[in-house]
Amino acid sequence: MQKLTIGNWKMNPGSLVEVKKLVQSLDKVKVGKNVSVAICPPFVYLPLLKTKFTLGAQDAFGEEKGAYTGEISPSMLKNLGVEYVILGHSERRIHIGETDELIAKKIKGAMVAGLKVILCVGEPLAMRKKGMAASKKYVEGQLKKDLSLLKPKDRSKVIVAYEPIWAISTMPGAKPDSPEGAAEMIVSIKKITKGKVIYGGSVNGANARGFLERKEIDGALPGGASLKPEEFRKIIEAAS
Ligand code: PGA
Repeated sequence: MQKLTIGNWKMNPGSLVEVKKLVQSLDKVKVGKNVSVAICPPFVYLPLLKTKFTLGAQDAFGEEKGAYTGEISPSMLKNLGVEYVILGHSERRIHIGETDELIAKKIKGAMVAGLKVILCVGEPLAMRKKGMAASKKYVEGQLKKDLSLLKPKDRSKVIVAYEPIWAISTMPGAKPDSPEGAAEMIVSIKKITKGKVIYGGSVNGANARGFLERKEIDGALPGGASLKPEEFRKIIEAAS
């Protein structure tokens, strides 16, 4: 099965000059037939990027058009040729205050517009400290709420990214989950969604293979490492 590699650039880089340099290096990376690669830059760069990779956005609003100052609709993205949209990232839940209710609406809107949704879920450190059973319950709760507006048959179309918050590289003391831990959670997520589940949280060139060689894990969502062409190359290689 094709493994996914989705690069989440977050709010980087700071200028179009840097973006062009980055894309030039990234485009030199060879991609095998059995891996599907997308990059998700900030909105403003999306229409300006010329790259061989599939494009994804880091968010989209749940409505099609109207009086929603500052928002971007899923069909605007679709019309630009964007294929994926990341929704419910923990940074948006934490810093912007996105709720499961809002995320559920965004997922529905994105699916109606024909975008492929990458829904991020994952437990905070305090929950993981309580153990795996408590963490699974937490993630199950997020999934039930976030997917609540979809018909059961459509749930499997959502790609879930399991991203434990404590593993995201910019969190204090972050370290990646173990491939075993990630696989265990991913199996539990798949029981609910019956679709693809990828792993994110401090994935880099050195550890990617450990995650990607596991049959339960359908791909990776690197953040920091997707801004470093050499690291991204190694992750893509590991996925191939
Ligand atoms: P990271 O970010 O790879 O830098 O940990 C992953 C993410 O937040 O999607």
